[in-house]
Amino acid sequence: MSVLALIGSPSENSRTAALVDVALRYLNAYGFNTEVVTPFSLPAEDLLYGRFNSLAVQQFLQQVQQSHGLIVATPVYKAAYSGALKTLLDLIPERGLHNKVVLPIATGGTTAHMLAVDYALKPVLTALKAGEILPGVFAIDKQITRPSQAGELVGLESELTQRLDLALDQFVEQLHRRFPRPLEDAWLSERVRDARVSV
Ligand SMILES: Cc1cc2nc3c(=O)[nH]c(=O)nc-3n(C[C@H](O)[C@H](O)[C@H](O)COP(=O)(O)O)c2cc1C
Repeated sequence: MSVLALIGSPSENSRTAALVDVALRYLNAYGFNTEVVTPFSLPAEDLLYGRFNSLAVQQFLQQVQQSHGLIVATPVYKAAYSGALKTLLDLIPERGLHNKVVLPIATGGTTAHMLAVDYALKPVLTALKAGEILPGVFAIDKQITRPSQAGELVGLESELTQRLDLALDQFVEQLHRRFPRPLEDAWLSERVRDARVSV
């Protein structure tokens, strides 16, 4: 099962990306395939001018289409999601998130705009017909410590770690509910062989 993370920060050393990195490690440990798209993943002109026919945009749309779940992450800018995230979301066709489970994540300087996910981002995800939008995770800057050198891990305040873990557990549960794993052949033959009664 695959999860695509859209990270809407235009910052090179992004706290939002650091938080998503922790989330993706968690999902990898559960066996999910994860991919990341940021504003740096596509040519800036394709994003700004909405070049739907460009190869990079086509590849991005394929990634969206093939994913089962998405993490849509953004810094709060001027009490809303970032413009960089919107350039990515605007490329996705109407119904592009149909049947997908979406976990929103946002970071901000203060808690003043912690509802930005609810009043700004969620309506856009709804317009794209997301199958399920989870409550989401909001973090403030001081709760996230970015690695200062290569190989170092992201540091999160324990309160944030708890909320993130809860949100990810719910994300995993909803993904498994919506996309049940097919029974493996070996497991099935074992059950048939061991069954005492059949109907
Ligand atoms: C242009 C700009 C606007 C911002 N506006 C807000 C805001 O309205 N509310 C808020 O809480 N933080 C605001 N911030 C702070 C960022 O949301 C916060 O530092 C965030 O963690 C940055 O994430 P990043 O490192 O992934 O870019 C703003 C930052 C910038 C650069």
